Amino acid sequence: MARDLFQKCRDYSDSADARAQGFYPYFRCIEESLGNHVICEGESKIMIGSNNYLGLAQDPRVIEAACAATRKYGAGCTGSRLLNGTITLHNQLEEALADFLQRESVMLFSTGFFANQGALAALLESDDLILCDRENHASIIEGCQISPARLVPYRHNSVDALRNRLKRAPEEAGRLIIMDGVFSMSGDIADLPPMVKAAKEYGAVLYVDEAHSLGVLGPEGRGTVHHFGVNDDVDIVMGTFSKSLGSMGGFIGGSREMIEYLKHKARCFIFTASLAPAVVGGVLKALEIMRAEPERIELLWRNTRKMHEGFKSIGFKIGSTQTPIVPILIGSEAKAFAFAQRLYEEGVFATPAIYPAVRYGEAIVRTSFMSTHTEEDLDKVLEIFAKIARELGTFDDPAYTEPGRRRNVFDFALPDRGRAEQVRADSGNSSRNGSGLHAAIPG
Ligand SMILES: Cc1ncc(COP(=O)(O)O)c(C=O)c1O
Repeated sequence: MARDLFQKCRDYSDSADARAQGFYPYFRCIEESLGNHVICEGESKIMIGSNNYLGLAQDPRVIEAACAATRKYGAGCTGSRLLNGTITLHNQLEEALADFLQRESVMLFSTGFFANQGALAALLESDDLILCDRENHASIIEGCQISPARLVPYRHNSVDALRNRLKRAPEEAGRLIIMDGVFSMSGDIADLPPMVKAAKEYGAVLYVDEAHSLGVLGPEGRGTVHHFGVNDDVDIVMGTFSKSLGSMGGFIGGSREMIEYLKHKARCFIFTASLAPAVVGGVLKALEIMRAEPERIELLWRNTRKMHEGFKSIGFKIGSTQTPIVPILIGSEAKAFAFAQRLYEEGVFATPAIYPAVRYGEAIVRTSFMSTHTEEDLDKVLEIFAKIARELGTFDDPAYTEPGRRRNVFDFALPDRGRAEQVRADSGNSSRNGSGLHAAIPG
């Protein structure tokens, strides 16, 4: 008899179990958003779970530009860029980004996820290798899986591990090294200068995902490659509008001939509708404001420093973060869910991240900060975190009292189900919450 494709749906109970326990932290409905605060169930919450780093999603000038674009071009483009879906604003945004990032050419995609998928699938061939940091974003992993090339993961941010892999690459194989500029869970910055050196030595192409670094790092927020002064040594940059630029959509930047090739070969560019006029109009304005008002980035960093110090002085472990993404170590998955629920009840909006997004037994509440958070917001957040940590005994969790105990049984980010299940079994945990619920965590 044919396998029942829906059996797994009937069997799935992770989310229902979490709801029954009163801990389900996802799909919380926002009734109104003011940026640093949101209204949920009629109550104001301080938002520390958003990537709206510069507060531009709510800027009235951005909103007006989006409305003006809608009035001029309509609600949507109703077609692919290749066919009927290119409007003047798409071309203007591509030129503005190329100028900003000092790239020969830039092309837009309908999401950042598509940008990574589209570029990786179109550029690599079956004998090629993709050298991929183990903590790269899911969209990169998906792109690697769609591409016919061989995926070669290397230890997070380790140039030695990367060199080892490169050393063993077959002579004639094309090589592409890909990494997040800022890693979306840990908040640490890619160690680019030695990676650039290794790429040069081994004839590899270098690709940097600037999703969390645009508007955060480098002069005017131009990203990690500018932060390290290696823009000319990095072949491909990718970015998204869903974070600092306050909207949605993504892009790839690189040489003129590569972009021309991708515009005719990347399937998730060709076979999908182009970005709506409101989005492109809004992003153009957001980019202009970001460049004209560098004080936003300064405020973001002031708030970031305050929160790094604040969390540490309470006793929280925040890992190796160097950016506005601040992962707060909680420990067990159940405690991380309970912590997030208590935050919500106390007026703070943040979500937990659990295995396999992070090491098993080291679940976090992922926080991220914005230029528009006030001192008062941030003091209140710290006060509430301290209160809940005392209440839940966070600092008595084995993650705090026995650090490093499971360091060598993990393999994250890469969705290798067999291995992941094995790790869970080895760790003696039968809960099904882990990898199942993680699928819903936005990075
Ligand atoms: C590092 C990284 N790359 C790519 C993406 C995908 O971007 P988008 O939200 O535009 O699809 C994200 C966002 O979640 C991300 O964090």
